[in-house]
Amino acid sequence: MSISSFLTKKFLKSLFFPAHNRGEALPKGLIRLLKEQPGFWDLPELPEIGSTLSCSGLVHDAQISIAKRVNSKNCFFGVNGASGLIQSGIIAMANPGEYLLMPRNVHTSVIKACALQNIIPIFFDVEFSTETGHYLPITKKWFTSVLTNLDFEKKKIVGVILVSPYYQGYATNLEPLIKICHQHNLPVLVDEAHGSYFLFCENLNLPKSALRANADLVVHSLHKSLNGLTQTAVIWHNGDLIEENKLIKSINLLQTTSPNSLLLSSCEESIKEWLNKENLNNYKKRISEAKKIFKELIKRKIPLIKTNDPLKIVLNTSKVGIDGFTADRFFYKNGLIAELPEMKTLTFCLGFSNQKDFIFLFQKLWEKLLIHTNKSYSLKAIKPPFRLVQSPEVPIGVAWNSQTYSIPLTKSLGMISGDIICPYPPGIPLIVPGERIDKERIEWIKTQSLYNKDLLNSYIRVLHN
Ligand SMILES: Cc1ncc(COP(=O)(O)O)c(C=O)c1O
Repeated sequence: MSISSFLTKKFLKSLFFPAHNRGEALPKGLIRLLKEQPGFWDLPELPEIGSTLSCSGLVHDAQISIAKRVNSKNCFFGVNGASGLIQSGIIAMANPGEYLLMPRNVHTSVIKACALQNIIPIFFDVEFSTETGHYLPITKKWFTSVLTNLDFEKKKIVGVILVSPYYQGYATNLEPLIKICHQHNLPVLVDEAHGSYFLFCENLNLPKSALRANADLVVHSLHKSLNGLTQTAVIWHNGDLIEENKLIKSINLLQTTSPNSLLLSSCEESIKEWLNKENLNNYKKRISEAKKIFKELIKRKIPLIKTNDPLKIVLNTSKVGIDGFTADRFFYKNGLIAELPEMKTLTFCLGFSNQKDFIFLFQKLWEKLLIHTNKSYSLKAIKPPFRLVQSPEVPIGVAWNSQTYSIPLTKSLGMISGDIICPYPPGIPLIVPGERIDKERIEWIKTQSLYNKDLLNSYIRVLHN
């Protein structure tokens, strides 16, 4: 079967990213465009259109007007996902050899940018719930204790990266943390890939958007948490701690010279749609409906975990002795496609279309799952074994570029990694280049990689002694 044939395959219900739900919730402007003659709109960078870094043209004008309406100093669209713009943000914040403070659960794109530029990550550990197998939001108390463990004299820390909300929807109260960083004169980049829509829906009892919490750079994934096409993203820039020219230079470094006109248009249309009062009211309705869906499922005794994002339905499969991967396979086979299976949970993304039929379908399949699946109550989520503050022993870029050789992961104990080991999902690196491979992490992989059974049997590139 060709890719194009598969793309038209129908599922009973698609609760994965992109959040436009297979076109149902695409912005109206984009739907209009897609109804035109196929491919007619696939234009190059004509002077009238320009690109994200042009000084004139429609893309430039859209970015200026949107930034103004959102009260941000400026913004830039991106066509290589939140990943691409996070990487540009990182390169704008730090020079090679400088240090960035970041939580251990950053997305793999952060590690790759650090490896590329030899920007040294100082990781801090994050509290973890063994009940759900999920990282917990970062409290002010936790963050303060991290800062007291840092040696600002010895290491040139030039910025901080924070992630909120997480994939499952847990959000950190960012404002106090950003305030502390600013007191140290440190700019903050917030990876808000999963929380774009918070910016447009104040007073719905949603987490405060990173932009409103005074972050210096905020990256939104417009296909995960707004209704844009896959690969679309935006970076917002505020304050004076990050030079605009440096940001522009960094975007230029990584961006394609042929940005897709459809994706650029999608960036504009998805954001503008949320800035329109009438449309916003419709989306707000969706969010209220999502809250009702959660309440109704709880009423029906389905074990859900509450997070700060109403659009994420997090099913605690471990409550009935089923792991998230088995449950995922079951739902998939029955036409209900989820987004994120993990050891103890399965996360569905409601997206922005009407999901009234979800409750009935979900309950029906849930009951079937309970009858037809073997149960095991020995599922045990263990916190990934990290120290409170930790940096790679060999600078990350040096390790990444060193001569390496490949050995079985189980035989790599005590070696320095030249690789990123990143169990997916959810794409959070467990070992990064330059780190010494310890017993604890190999043990962790042994017990925790339900989905990545092959991970333990895999090979890793390590440095020569
Ligand atoms: C927290 C977080 N940040 C960034 C990204 C990257 O987003 P994108 O797929 O838009 O590149 C992801 C993707 O899963 C993510 O979970």
